Amino acid sequence: SAAEARAGEVGRPTVVAHRGASAYAPENTLASIDKAAELGFTWVENDVQRTKDGELVVIHDDSLRRTTDVEKVFPDRAPWKVKDFTAAEISRLDAGSWFSPAYAGTRVPTLEQYMRRVERNHEKLLLEIKNPELYPGIEQQTLKLLSNEGWLGPRHHDRLIVQSFSADSLRTVHELRPAVTTAYLGRPPVAELPEYAHFVDLINPSYGSISGAYVSAVHTFTGPHGRTLGVFAWTVDDPATAWQVAGYGVDGVITNRPDVVRAALGTD
Ligand code: G3P
Ligand code: CA
Repeated sequence: SAAEARAGEVGRPTVVAHRGASAYAPENTLASIDKAAELGFTWVENDVQRTKDGELVVIHDDSLRRTTDVEKVFPDRAPWKVKDFTAAEISRLDAGSWFSPAYAGTRVPTLEQYMRRVERNHEKLLLEIKNPELYPGIEQQTLKLLSNEGWLGPRHHDRLIVQSFSADSLRTVHELRPAVTTAYLGRPPVAELPEYAHFVDLINPSYGSISGAYVSAVHTFTGPHGRTLGVFAWTVDDPATAWQVAGYGVDGVITNRPDVVRAALGTD
């Protein structure tokens, strides 16, 4: 198709397994990043939040309800917010059965457990600081954990991107650790890109919010590390959309179905 031909012309975007290979294993679990590795993908995305007793955990929603059996285990604790449960309580929950009985007993990982598995799998991480307004100081705490795990040294510079929907959060990350690569989740107006380029390296928009002209405009700016501002689009799960965004010239595609995107784009 024409779109396919254009995708070929503009090169091969990086494919990122969204919440792990989350179409095939329960999202944001160790199983989901094992699955991404098994399918041959290097980049995985996750979501980081904080428990009542201050442990960083990997989960998308601010409530435990959708992706665990919390309602069954703690029936009286509605609305089951992550921030109202201790790490010990969360460690008892089943984060796999909702997805498939084959994953019964899968746990909500702590960020520490998750980072060790990413390392073991030789993966690279697009780490989202989720709902930072609920967790004062989560930026500093996340960076400290990453540092303790050895993820802030030069060897890891091309293996870690920190992203957020909160520009304030990303400004904080950039101020605390200027070497870390950062990405803003959203689509700022072109007129505001010079400001974003002070503290982010990438603009990661929903694919439906952008055009080829927008991606070209982003590519005219240089980020805080002297590199062209990049664009990773989400969440692209079918071949037609993959061809569309590749035609826009995006640098990366964030997907629940990395194998589908790879087959469509012929990308690694
Ligand atoms: O990585 C992009 C994407 O994860 C942002 O949306 O809601 O899936 O965290 P969400
Ligand atoms: Ca996310």
